[in-house]
Amino acid sequence: MRSHYCGTVNESLLDQDVTLCGWVNRRRDHGGVIFIDLRDREGLVQVVFDPDAAEVFAQAERVRSEFVLKVEGRVRRRPEGTENPDLPTGAVEVLGRGLSVLNTAETPPFQLDEEDVNEESRLRYRYIDLRRPIMQLRLQMRARVTRVLRRFLEDNGFLDIETPMLTKATPEGARDYLVPSRTHAGSFFALPQSPQLFKQLLMMSGMDRYYQIVRCFRDEDLRADRQPEFTQLDIETSFLDEQGIMGLMESMIRDLFAQVLEEALPDPFPRMSWHEAMHRFGSDKPDLRIPLEFTEITDLMKEVDFKVFSGPANDPRGRVAALCLPQGGELSRKEIDDYTQFVGRYGAKGLAYIKVNDLTAGREGLQSPILKFLPDTVVVDILNRTGAQTGDLIFFGADKATIVNESLGALRVKLGHDRGLVERGWRPLWVVDFPMFEWDDKESRHVALHHPFTAPRVDSIEALEADPGAAISRAYDMVLNGTEIGGGSVRIHTTAMQDAVFRLLGIGADEAREKFGFLLDALKYGCPPHGGIAFGLDRLVMLMSGAQSIRDVMAFPKTQTAACPLTGAPAEVGEKQLHELNIRIRRQG
Ligand code: AMO
Ligand code: AMP
Repeated sequence: MRSHYCGTVNESLLDQDVTLCGWVNRRRDHGGVIFIDLRDREGLVQVVFDPDAAEVFAQAERVRSEFVLKVEGRVRRRPEGTENPDLPTGAVEVLGRGLSVLNTAETPPFQLDEEDVNEESRLRYRYIDLRRPIMQLRLQMRARVTRVLRRFLEDNGFLDIETPMLTKATPEGARDYLVPSRTHAGSFFALPQSPQLFKQLLMMSGMDRYYQIVRCFRDEDLRADRQPEFTQLDIETSFLDEQGIMGLMESMIRDLFAQVLEEALPDPFPRMSWHEAMHRFGSDKPDLRIPLEFTEITDLMKEVDFKVFSGPANDPRGRVAALCLPQGGELSRKEIDDYTQFVGRYGAKGLAYIKVNDLTAGREGLQSPILKFLPDTVVVDILNRTGAQTGDLIFFGADKATIVNESLGALRVKLGHDRGLVERGWRPLWVVDFPMFEWDDKESRHVALHHPFTAPRVDSIEALEADPGAAISRAYDMVLNGTEIGGGSVRIHTTAMQDAVFRLLGIGADEAREKFGFLLDALKYGCPPHGGIAFGLDRLVMLMSGAQSIRDVMAFPKTQTAACPLTGAPAEVGEKQLHELNIRIRRQG
């Protein structure tokens, strides 16, 4: 139907006839001449209709926003002074000679250039929202990203293999989405939280290298970077250790950024132990663009006459840390109160601070609600360790280490953004040497930091059992600008070790057999050493496109409450269907 995309009409087509198809972005009547901005996937171009061609002109008068048109015309240079340098097509226009209305459109519920359209409307009328140029660009970038990733993996011998959607639970730490079985009354499939177990089985099947761009389902609390269904680039390989896997994966990401964004990422990516990341940034996914770091002061606070600090300082699982904000002395009382509220959301009971009004004036130069509790030597040590200068402000967190890390870690990121401290550019990072287990206070048992198939870095099962709390796993996370974009590990590949890890996790033999019997069996029949990783594709594209939420790089995402306003899902189903599925709904009240 058409000869060119609207967005590609430029000076190279001067004096040529073109046929274009697209949507009316805007129609303007100007002293007897009608201008229509015609829009398609590639951009928009100005079409002019003058009254000389009376019939076509009359047609043009009737078109409205979002009508679908086919236009024939000749490309000409815009009159001097009317060029639009902001548009790739802005030097030219098309003099319309023919016009057919392929379809009319009702007035859309919002204008495409309207800002602050609420999310509910955007999702309900997603097909209109997606017409916006920014959304077109994001989805085009997403397609380019998957194309480049696929090509890299194909070139490196990875096979694209599909795994089931109707399956059994895989433990990735979220709730499952369940699907009732009609043929097995009372039984349910789980939608996969990840293809973890299947990709391991594929390694046991001798496939050697696997990848899949695959939908995963997790029923968890949603945030800007979490959706109930999301896409992983899922990868597994045999006969490579963690160094080999990390090396290959970072070269894939470097290739991706070079090809899609023309950005050169560091070679190699820096690596940091989990311990160092928590110690310096209070986070296992530190944003290295923010030049703020924790200062450890637990040891200084053991003897002070201030329970708020001495308590955690003498608790083996407590921590007291400081965060020095350059020029933070400018903060008002109100701003400090707001930050105190902010850390409260992460469980912090307060946010002590010292303002350094004049570093040379001793105590007189400091302003703080806690100064009276701290002896001179401690104050001097704090100032030395943080390197605080006149005009700075030092924040303090004292509590269980987990709370200090989470609250001050979040404060560090917030201050970075609020104070304009975030440096430009891309700061990838591998976080490695995770603890194998984490102690769960509520359940009074060890839980896996990654998943229970991750291999420990130990010489023997005895060594692991002797001190599980100290065991380090062979896991690695790829972090980019403070977002965890991927995570994986070398896997356990012997039955004995897998049994031992289940045991340490408090998963009894019967439970292990019931849940993962098929994996335990497969381990016995010749399992190669293997490992892999999964990238959050949505998060990766979000970062690359500069979007604020993964919802903006998904064609049809769900709302914060995991619903789809477009289709009305989830929805009730009829009695007949429920009956077939042997399900009865319990009505509340
Ligand atoms: P993990 O659970 O870390 O690992 O998931 C891998 C990556 O997927 C992304 N991700 C999400 N993205 C959007 N919405 C969500 N709800 C969501 N949850 C996770 C993150 C994360 O880094 N089977 C293992 C991988 C392996 O060991 O190979 C796994 O699924 O970017
Ligand atoms: P209070 O003695 O409770 O008035 O607290 C004195 C100062 O310590 C206030 O600035 C509080 O915000 C702060 N503070 C209280 N608890 C903590 C805590 N757990 N960590 C850091 N600062 C705290």
